Amino acid sequence: MKGRPRVFCIVAARPNFMKVAPILRAIEQRGTLEAVLVHTGQHYDAGMSEVFFADLGIRAPDIHLSIGAGSHAEQTGKLMMAFEKLCLEDRPDLVLVVGDVNATVACSLAAAKLHIPVAHVEAGLRSGDRGMPEELNRIVTDALADLLFTTEPAANENLAREGVAAGKVHFVGNVMVDSLLASLGRSDPPGAVARILGPDFAEREFALLTLHRPANVDDPGRLARWVEAFEAVAARIPIVCPLHPRTAGRLEAAGLRARFEAAVAATGPLGYLEFIGLMQRARLVITDSGGLQEEATVLGVPCLTIRANTERPVTLTAGSNRLVGDAPAALAPAVAEALAQPRPAAAEAPELWDGRAAERIVAVLERHLAGGAEHG
Ligand code: UD1
Repeated sequence: MKGRPRVFCIVAARPNFMKVAPILRAIEQRGTLEAVLVHTGQHYDAGMSEVFFADLGIRAPDIHLSIGAGSHAEQTGKLMMAFEKLCLEDRPDLVLVVGDVNATVACSLAAAKLHIPVAHVEAGLRSGDRGMPEELNRIVTDALADLLFTTEPAANENLAREGVAAGKVHFVGNVMVDSLLASLGRSDPPGAVARILGPDFAEREFALLTLHRPANVDDPGRLARWVEAFEAVAARIPIVCPLHPRTAGRLEAAGLRARFEAAVAATGPLGYLEFIGLMQRARLVITDSGGLQEEATVLGVPCLTIRANTERPVTLTAGSNRLVGDAPAALAPAVAEALAQPRPAAAEAPELWDGRAAERIVAVLERHLAGGAEHG
């Protein structure tokens, strides 16, 4: 006799953990499906992975593939080989992937070739910039997925333009916001600020910076111009930056680490609750990340995105996000402008960013898996 349908939920890298946490919780609460948590190991440091499991209340992974770092093809290829083997040994009824990291595309391709249905959470986002590895991962994953869960109307439009059948696409809201709203009561903003910046920072304003995109950090000349831009900003407002290992490595290799740390209060990667706490207190956020644009929108913190484009346009129209562009010299004037305005009152969150996206996703999965024939 067949038990509950089994769903492999894939996590690989830091931005995946907060997206999968509410889905695991919703699956457990409804009790109709069985979730198997697979960690591919793209992010493996305690500070990039373990602390998130603790902060988000995620149970230990059922399966660990331990793939680690490598070039894109190497990482993707190793992931596909390991995940195909796993699927052959332990065939799931559905594979659920989130976001746009290398494991998202690798696991989708391995599963689709074995005729295992694939669900993609955070489908349809497009920056229009094929120079970003994440953009290629998004395009390929969405072409393969059987169920596409979207966070904003632009994503539905992108998928329609790419010829994805409307019946596969479900606008459910934002699971990252599910995690954020569920965690706000547990974060400790003054405690986070005091630990990271010192007790005298309780009343002072600061900017929270994150930086890790290859386009910003991999070229030493460009990275030096960013450091110069941060020096100019630091003359107006103190900056705190939890350093991503990629950025730490690039600063080191370019001989820029000391200069960076003279301008910016740098820390190692932070846990989820501590990071959220800092963001709640920040006067503004400066970032090249995708997820932060969304979190800042929900928290009503002004966000300056140091990229030429965003795949999350609703954060520009309904949120507090502003695209500064990718020219480092544009940052200091943008910061000055943001500081000249009072911190805005938190606006109404974008449609369906209400903390219940995971419930909607699981309801769709149940229907899909109950009517197995739907998958052709
Ligand atoms: C990846 C994702 C990106 C996401 C980012 C968030 C892809 C294509 N990119 O980029 O979408 O926004 O994660 O963090 O999947 N490293 C460690 N410890 C770790 C993890 C990584 O030292 O726990 C090192 C790696 O060895 C490597 C570098 O950091 O040298 C980059 O890591 P990797 O995860 O491959 O790519 P990211 O740039 O983090």
